[in-house]
Amino acid sequence: MSKFIINGGKKLVGEVNISGAKNATLGIIAAAIMTDEDVILDNIPDVEDVNIMLSAIEEMGGEVKRITRNKVHIFAKNANATMANAKNLSRIRASYYFVGALLSKKKQAVVRMPGGCSIGERPIDLHLKGFKSLGAECEVKDGFIIAKADKLTSDNIYIDIVSVGATINLILASVMAEGTTVLENVAKEPHVVDVANFLNSMGANVKGAGTDTIRIKGVPYLHGTTYTIIPDQIEAGTYMTIACATEGDIIIKNIIPKHLDSISAKLIDMGNNVVEYDEAIRVIGCERQFPTTIKTLPYPGFPTDMQPQITVLLSIANGESNVTESIFEDRFKYIVDLKKMGAQIEQRSTSLNIKGIEHLKPASLMSPDLRAGAALVIAALMTKGESTVDRIEYIKRGYENIFGKLKELGADIREEN
Ligand code: UD1
Repeated sequence: MSKFIINGGKKLVGEVNISGAKNATLGIIAAAIMTDEDVILDNIPDVEDVNIMLSAIEEMGGEVKRITRNKVHIFAKNANATMANAKNLSRIRASYYFVGALLSKKKQAVVRMPGGCSIGERPIDLHLKGFKSLGAECEVKDGFIIAKADKLTSDNIYIDIVSVGATINLILASVMAEGTTVLENVAKEPHVVDVANFLNSMGANVKGAGTDTIRIKGVPYLHGTTYTIIPDQIEAGTYMTIACATEGDIIIKNIIPKHLDSISAKLIDMGNNVVEYDEAIRVIGCERQFPTTIKTLPYPGFPTDMQPQITVLLSIANGESNVTESIFEDRFKYIVDLKKMGAQIEQRSTSLNIKGIEHLKPASLMSPDLRAGAALVIAALMTKGESTVDRIEYIKRGYENIFGKLKELGADIREEN
C-alpha cells in the first residue's frame, strides 16, 4: 500500500485539466463490445477502474490498443466469450455493465459479481428485474451473474429506485431488443446521457436520456464509431473543493459547468467565489467557510460522490452544518479519521452534524474508499503540518494523476510505497 505525505496549509493556485468521466467511460467500454467494428474512444481517464475494464475485453478475446494515454482503440469482433471472468472485475462496480452488453450482443452473459467501494449495501436486484422484463432468465450463483435469453423483447420498465447502474445496464440490454423499450424513473446523471450518446453514435436509437423517461427503439446491429467522453463531474468538484479548502485560486479546465451547478451553488453559499466560463470554472476560496445544509440526491441534486469532500470543508466552517446521505447508508467511514484531526462531527443515522472549528490538526489517515480517500487528501491539504494519507490505491482508482495535478497547483506532497 502506498501513501501520500502532505505538508498542508498552503494555498493551491493555478490551473488544472480535468480528465474524462470515469463512470461514463466504464459504461461506454462495456458498450464498445456490442459492435464488431472499430471503436475509438478519446478522453478516457487513465485510472485503475478503467484499465480493469479494458483488460477484461482483452481476456474476452477483443483487441485493445492504447493510441495515447487517453485514447484507445477497441476492436471486439473476436471477443467471442459470453463470459467476463477477469479476476480484477470483482474489484470494481461497473463489471455489471458487461451483463447488459453481452446479453444484448450474445443473448448470454456470465459475469463476475461487482465489487467496488464499500459504502453500504449495493444490491443489483433492479438490474436483474429489468433484464427479466426484457425476457432474460437471470440468477446470481457462485460469485457470478448469469443471464440468458432466446431473444430480448421490449417492455415498459419502471425502475423502483433511481439507479445509475440499472439505468445504464437496461439501456445496454434494450438497444438491440425487438420493439421499443420504455424505461421510467431513470437516473439523469451526465454519464447516463454520455452512454446513450455513445450508443447513438453507433447507430442505436435511444431518446430521452437526461429526462425521467428513456425510449429505446431496438436496432439490428451497431456499427463502429469515434467518440470523445465527457469530463469528470466529480473530479472537477473535488478540485473546486480543494480551492475552497486551501483558500486557493484554481481554474478548473476542460469541464461542462452545467454539470457542476449543484456543487457551485453550495460553494457559493459557503462564501466562495465561483466564476463560470464556457469550458472552465475559476474557484477562489474564502477566508472562512459559512456553514450550510446538504442532502445528497440523484442528479441534478448534490452528488453522493461529493459528500465526503464537502463534509471535510464544512469541518472548518464558521458554525454548525448538517449533511444527509440519502443514496448509500454507510458512506461515513472517513469521519473516524476526521475526528482524529479534531473535527467535531456527530453521526445521527444517515446524517452528520458538523460543528465547524477554526482548523484541524495533522494526523495519519487511511483512505476507506475512493471518494473518502480524496476527502482525506483535502483534509491534509488544508491543515498546517504534516499528515499522511495511506491506501492511496483507492484514490487512484478514480483520479488520474492526482499527485502530479496537486503538485502542479503548489501542494507540498510526496508519495511513498
Ligand atoms: C453509481 C456510481 C457511483 C455513484 C452512484 C450514485 C458507477 C460505476 N458508480 O453507482 O460512483 O456513487 O452511481 O450516483 O457509475 N440500488 C438498489 N438496487 C439496484 C441498484 C441500486 O437498491 O439494483 C440502490 C443502491 O443501493 C443505492 C441507489 O439505488 O441506494 C443508487 O445506486 P446506483 O445509482 O445504482 O449506484 P451505482 O450504479 O452502484
